[in-house]
Amino acid sequence: MSIPGTTKVGVSIVAYTDRKWGSGVLLDTEDVSIYFRLIYYDTLSMLRNSLLWASTNPFLAERLPKARFVRRATKRFMPGEEFRDVIKEAERLRTKGIASTTTLLGENNNSLKEADAVLGHYLTDLRVIDELGLDMEVSVKPTQLGLDFGVEEARSRLLELAEATDSIVWLDMEASEYVDRTLDIFMSVKEQRHNVGLCVQSYLKRTPDDVARIASYDCSIRIVKGAYNEPESVAFSNKKDVDQAFEDLTATLLRGRAQGGVGRVVLGTHDPSMIGAAKRIASDLGLKEDQYEFAMLFGIQRREQLRLASDGHKVRVLISYGSAWFPWYMRRLAERPANLWFVAKQLLP
Ligand code: FDA
Repeated sequence: MSIPGTTKVGVSIVAYTDRKWGSGVLLDTEDVSIYFRLIYYDTLSMLRNSLLWASTNPFLAERLPKARFVRRATKRFMPGEEFRDVIKEAERLRTKGIASTTTLLGENNNSLKEADAVLGHYLTDLRVIDELGLDMEVSVKPTQLGLDFGVEEARSRLLELAEATDSIVWLDMEASEYVDRTLDIFMSVKEQRHNVGLCVQSYLKRTPDDVARIASYDCSIRIVKGAYNEPESVAFSNKKDVDQAFEDLTATLLRGRAQGGVGRVVLGTHDPSMIGAAKRIASDLGLKEDQYEFAMLFGIQRREQLRLASDGHKVRVLISYGSAWFPWYMRRLAERPANLWFVAKQLLP
């Protein structure tokens, strides 16, 4: 920041804290001033909750995506709205030893016709992936497959997808009201096809019990922290508790993997401390780097993705596409409100 009429430069350093907040001057010389600002986590929680609220607001969902600056800002997290944009990035990642997963954005469709269109999209994607010989999997939201219209609607469409490929078809985990039905669909399809995987969320208090129930099915499981606005009755609200639960689940599943009872274990996180903990636990259990996997979202922690891959770890990047990106994008902003800066920058000429 230049102060008008002078050549003096000011720099502001922002840090997040769970104890204090305030601001002050670290250094003030003739040429440069360095300020600090501590932002209290509760301010962040408020911002996070507002973004999660916005993610479910139909008024904003209708209007904000039309704003050019919002569309430009999404580029950071998705290469484009078309599947061909995904392919381009997946090919680029492949040259760096990184595999990919893709997902068509959208949730809670309004009719079974929409669920059929989603199914058609994924079936085409699977055909293209096969033709190109890409190491790419698909990850699907249960409500995209028609879950709001009945468990059987989503189950039959998931089964059709699993039958169309030999690679794993992942089932995303959505808001807590869907967890029981998602587990039912997953276990039912798993009885007919081996190639389905499930995402579980460490912020949900019930997840260790769910994992105990499904792990014996020789399952492929992706652990994430969880991205929805959940009440304290069902989910931990404190980051420390969510992180501890993530570590505990990692330990449980990697132990299962080492004993041969769990299929693939995928750690869906960008958090350096979760990545470090997983590596420590795996090494204590005698697991090699390629016996578990890391997954990250397109555009986040790119350097860490490359570092893990070059260290011999299996890394997969989830690349999203489609026009229904608004709720998903709001959840990405909520995960790291500092990302709002990228949106604000798009307002500049
Ligand atoms: P956390 O949010 O604590 O962030 C740790 C650090 O990572 C941050 O300090 C920052 O450096 C970086 N970071 C995290 N998010 C960022 C962002 N958006 N932008 C920039 N930097 C960021 N959720 C869900 O509920 N159901 C699901 O099915 C899935 N599926 C899924 C698949 C994959 C492959 C991934 C990676 C994530 C999901 N998620 C998900 C989202 C998940 O629940 C979670 O919200 C995000 O991964 C963020 O949590 P982290 O573990 O990265 O840690």
